[in-house]
Amino acid sequence: MKKRIGVLLSGRGSNFEALAESVAAGRIPNAEIALVVSNRENAPGIEKARARGIEARVIPSKGLEREVYDKLVVAALREKSVDLVCLAGYMRLLSPYFVKTFPNRILNIHPSLLPAFPGLEPQRQALEHGAKFSGCTVHFVDENLDAGPIILQAVVPIEDRDTPETLAERILREEHRIYSEAVKLVLEGRCRIEGRRVLVAR
Ligand code: GRF
Repeated sequence: MKKRIGVLLSGRGSNFEALAESVAAGRIPNAEIALVVSNRENAPGIEKARARGIEARVIPSKGLEREVYDKLVVAALREKSVDLVCLAGYMRLLSPYFVKTFPNRILNIHPSLLPAFPGLEPQRQALEHGAKFSGCTVHFVDENLDAGPIILQAVVPIEDRDTPETLAERILREEHRIYSEAVKLVLEGRCRIEGRRVLVAR
């Protein structure tokens, strides 16, 4: 049976598209994207999903308490029998309830070399700090922001002429590559978590 992926997003959806393409091309084998959920009505990622024939739902989060909202999302993911949840530009912290429902079954991508520069605008943070290298990180998700055990990272050198936008663009290319790779490794059961470390059987 194919493994079923649920993608949560809030915006553009380029990481979702990269995952969808990897699934279609067999780079993530024996898998399908069963559902895309956005907490924002106008997220372009929703249309991108529908254009691919993938079911996409808007579940607006505005005004709802974190756990109340998460129960709605979890119900939708359960209804679609999702095995793995991928956050892809999802601008919300998950409640402990959500995290416990999918133990070690939630991944996130963040455009910095964590634990450096968690949170908003990490590309700008890296530039302003004067870092010489940045990159991106795929990690398991816990209740804390950009904090769970790291599965894969890719390094992107920072150049003197970089702006947050040019750096973000180069990092994004690496994001699209390593997110698919990490999803494949997790779905194939090749990631073992020991404390904070993720040991990958290659
Ligand atoms: C990406 O840079 C991702 O790492 C971060 O938010 C951005 C989302 O971009 N969490 P997209 O919606 O996947 O294009």
